[in-house]
Amino acid sequence: MDLLQVDKSKCLKCGICVECCPSCIITMGVDGPECNFDRGCMSCGHCVALCPVGALDNKYTPLEKQRPVTKPMLDAETAYEFMRMRRSVRAFKAAVPTEEDLTKLLNITRYAPTAGNSQGMYYVVVRDAEKIKAIADAVADWMEEEIEAGSENKRYFMTVLRVYRERGQDIIARKAPCLVFALARRLNTTGVSNAEQSWAYAELFAPTIGLGTTIAGFIQTCGIAGYKPLLDLIGLPPKHKVVGCMMVGYPKYKFRRMPERQHLKVEFK
Ligand SMILES: Cc1cc2nc3c(=O)[nH]c(=O)nc-3n(C[C@H](O)[C@H](O)[C@H](O)COP(=O)(O)O)c2cc1C
Repeated sequence: MDLLQVDKSKCLKCGICVECCPSCIITMGVDGPECNFDRGCMSCGHCVALCPVGALDNKYTPLEKQRPVTKPMLDAETAYEFMRMRRSVRAFKAAVPTEEDLTKLLNITRYAPTAGNSQGMYYVVVRDAEKIKAIADAVADWMEEEIEAGSENKRYFMTVLRVYRERGQDIIARKAPCLVFALARRLNTTGVSNAEQSWAYAELFAPTIGLGTTIAGFIQTCGIAGYKPLLDLIGLPPKHKVVGCMMVGYPKYKFRRMPERQHLKVEFK
């Protein structure tokens, strides 16, 4: 079956599919759009999604599986407030997030952008308190090794270790009841960037289902560095690597105010 099917009785030859294809593999023929390089398709589905008359189908992103856009766009003020209200949550209730809530949280991340529409993010969810403690300890060990090796983060790691080891405060995993690791195929060079997009989606969506999140920067940096004791604790599947880590739980406190940020720095040329 060809990649593209065109219903010629409907096609307006408007050229939107040609103009918007990310891989520029569609050209306008005499009878309508034609694909000149099937293997270049990144399955984004835009050609089908944009067609104003539903004349186009793509075997990778079939028309019948595309949901019509029915809801109106949020008004700017609601969207602005919603995005401003997002916060990193560092104090969690003891309750461990349910599989149902975590599935809802991670499900939305499938719609985050990925380089070349590569998708393929794979998550490992850790909800065992002892394992989470062992993970934080492993990250502290890694920081110690980094300090000894003269890492450029030496000073910062020393401060973190003082808090974690001497003061006994969990600055690494914030006693989160759940850690979500994002994994990508080992050869995927854009995994970390993709994970960052996933976290942005998850962090914004979390409060709508009663969850709170914080990106676990120390843990994910250690994982991305490939620190074996940490990878062994996660039980990394073959041919995969860690590209991100996020803490998840039910927030213990409610934010009453929204902190201000640096002013917008922009230059228009
Ligand atoms: C890449 C990245 C790593 C982060 N790592 C941590 C972390 O390890 N621990 C933590 O408490 N917060 C972490 N954060 C959250 C930031 O500290 C937080 O976004 C910032 O202080 C602003 O607060 P807000 O998210 O509530 O707006 C991280 C954020 C990013 C983007």
